[in-house]
This record gives sequence, C-alpha cells and structure tokens, in this order.
Amino acid sequence: MTILVTGGAGYIGSHTVAELVQHGESVVVVDSLQTGHRGAVLASLNVPLYDFDIRDTAQMVDVLQRHAVDTVIHFAANSLVGESVQNPLKYYDNNVAGTAKLLEAMVQANVLCIVFSSTAAVYGLPERMPIREADRKLPTNPYGETKLAIERMFHWANQAYGLSSVSLRYFNAAGAHPTLPIGEDHQPESHLIPIILQVALGQREKVNIFGDDYDTADGTCIRDYIHVMDLAKAHRLAVQYLRNGEKGASAFNLGNGSGFSVQEVIDVARKVTGHPIPAQVSPRRAGDPPQLIADATEAHRVLGWTPERTELAEIVASAWQWHQAHPQGYQD
Ligand code: UFG
Repeated sequence: MTILVTGGAGYIGSHTVAELVQHGESVVVVDSLQTGHRGAVLASLNVPLYDFDIRDTAQMVDVLQRHAVDTVIHFAANSLVGESVQNPLKYYDNNVAGTAKLLEAMVQANVLCIVFSSTAAVYGLPERMPIREADRKLPTNPYGETKLAIERMFHWANQAYGLSSVSLRYFNAAGAHPTLPIGEDHQPESHLIPIILQVALGQREKVNIFGDDYDTADGTCIRDYIHVMDLAKAHRLAVQYLRNGEKGASAFNLGNGSGFSVQEVIDVARKVTGHPIPAQVSPRRAGDPPQLIADATEAHRVLGWTPERTELAEIVASAWQWHQAHPQGYQD
C-alpha cells in the first residue's frame, strides 16, 4: 500500500512525507514545483517525485495505478490569503477545479481515501473561542472559501462514489523538522514567525506588527501556533483512520488550544535568538480576525492525536535552527 502526497514538496507536505517514511510507509509525491521545492523531498528518503499538475488526469491515474496507491494526502494548492483576494479565479481554478480533477483520477483508479489539507480560514470571523468543528463557517477570503468548497465536494463525492475523506483544519503551522534539513520557505514570505526570524538573521530591518488596537490583552492578534511535526503526525493518524475502514467525510481542527499574541511571539523569538528584533506597529492587515484558537478535542478523541511540541519557544527554536542553517531557504 502506497500513500500519494500531492504538494509533497511544500512546507507541511514535505514534513508529512518525512514522518510517513520514518514510520515505514511507502510514499510517492506529485508536485508541480510551482511553489514547492525539489530539495524539500529529501533524496535520503528515497521517495519518487513526479513533477506535474494535479489536473493532468492521465498522468495521475497512471501514477496511482503504477504505485498501487490506496490513500491520497492532498496538500497541492495556492495558500496566500492576500493573493486570493487579488486573484480569486486562480484559487478557484487551482484549488477547487484542481481537486475536482484529482478526485476524477482517483475514482477512475478506484482509490477512494483522501486526507485533505484544510484551514481555520474556513470559519472566517468565529462566533466563539475556542472554535469547534461544527461552528459557523463563513470565510472572509477566497482562500478559505475554496478550502470550504473542497470540503463540501468531499461530502457529495462520498455520496456519489463512496470516497472517504478526512479534512484537517490547521491553525497556524510553524516550526521545522528537528533532525532533517527541511523547513519553511515561501517566496515571498508573509508568515509571522519566518518574518521575525529573517529580522534576527539581518535580512530585514524590523517586523511590522499589524495592528495593536484589537480587543485582546496587549492589543495584537492572537493565534494558535502548532508545530509542523504535530501536523505531520495528524496526517499519519488520519490515514490510519481511513485504512481502518472509516467511511464518510469528516473534518478536524488541529491546534494546541492555546493562543499567543503577535507581541508574545516576538518576545519569545527575542529570547530564542538573542537578537533584539526591532518591531514597529503598523496598520491592521485587512481580514485578520483578532483571535483564532482551536478546540482540537475531536482530533484527540477520534484520531488519537495529541500534539507533542506545544511550547512556543520550542516551535520558534526549531524554525530558528532551520533558518540559521538555510538563510536563503532551498537553493532551487
Ligand atoms: N503578522 C504581523 N506582521 C507580519 C506578519 C503577520 O503582525 O509581518 C500578524 C498577522 O496580522 C496575524 C499573525 O501575525 O495576526 C499571524 O499571521 P500569519 O500571516 O503568520 O498567519 P495568519 O494567521 O494570517 O494565517 C494563517 C495561515 C493561513 C490561514 C490562516 C487561518 O497562514 O493560510 O492562518 O487560520 F488561512
């Protein structure tokens, strides 16, 4: 039995591939390398990497059959909130239409299990904190909207074709692999922790704090930061859940259940790096909810998932280790 990972050369995808291989799984990666990095699929893991778009149904069916794939983990997508507002059709095309084509290939090849990379952005402005899976979903940007549309697609594909799915709604992924040379490398970078660490590396002068007048204790936005290796483990457990014969379309929040403000993240990074990390308050970023914290009770209860790297200092330290060793990210 082989697991096909789309987007396996991306940030969370590459860590999941490493986690699966280290647990004895046979893995194959499909990645267009538009935003992924060839170097993120480590040669030492001995994983075949197919460089094509998930909309190429003929190639996808061929790879699914040739490798006797039983489960797909689907990361391949565009994932920049700001870009999705500027260019929503790109997101509908790549994310929604791309997933529809992927499912078409899976149904043709009779591969009927999928684990999907979803997001807390499906909730939009949450009604209450912490957020539970059944809470209102009203995305405030096309990125979240397309991820929610895909979750709904799984519901109908389950009824029509018997496709079983697990959607994993990540909160704020951060950190890097503790021992292997893989980590976060986005071009351009927009995420808080890598930006802070670029300041510590001397690549940026300062970090802009997007708003300090939110209704939170110190006025800056609160997020639930979750270590990428804990996310990787959740994917492995979700595959197990489907292989145990679970039917239907389910969704789980993945977070630590505790929130840190932008100011707190900067303070922790100052301690971890020993760098003063100059910061300056700047205007709010459009569409940022003041607070996002997961209730991940269901992932614990149903998947048996317990995050292990829950200390923010540990999360930042693992990212710092990667950024120091790879100040320019992947060299491809
Ligand atoms: N922030 C700053 N300065 C920066 C960058 C970010 O103050 O230079 C703030 C943001 O305003 C936000 C927090 O830091 O309050 C975290 O921002 P990120 O961009 O790192 O992450 P987001 O919470 O905006 O987004 C993440 C994922 C999205 C996902 C979203 C929903 O990156 O893909 O969570 O949970 F949609």
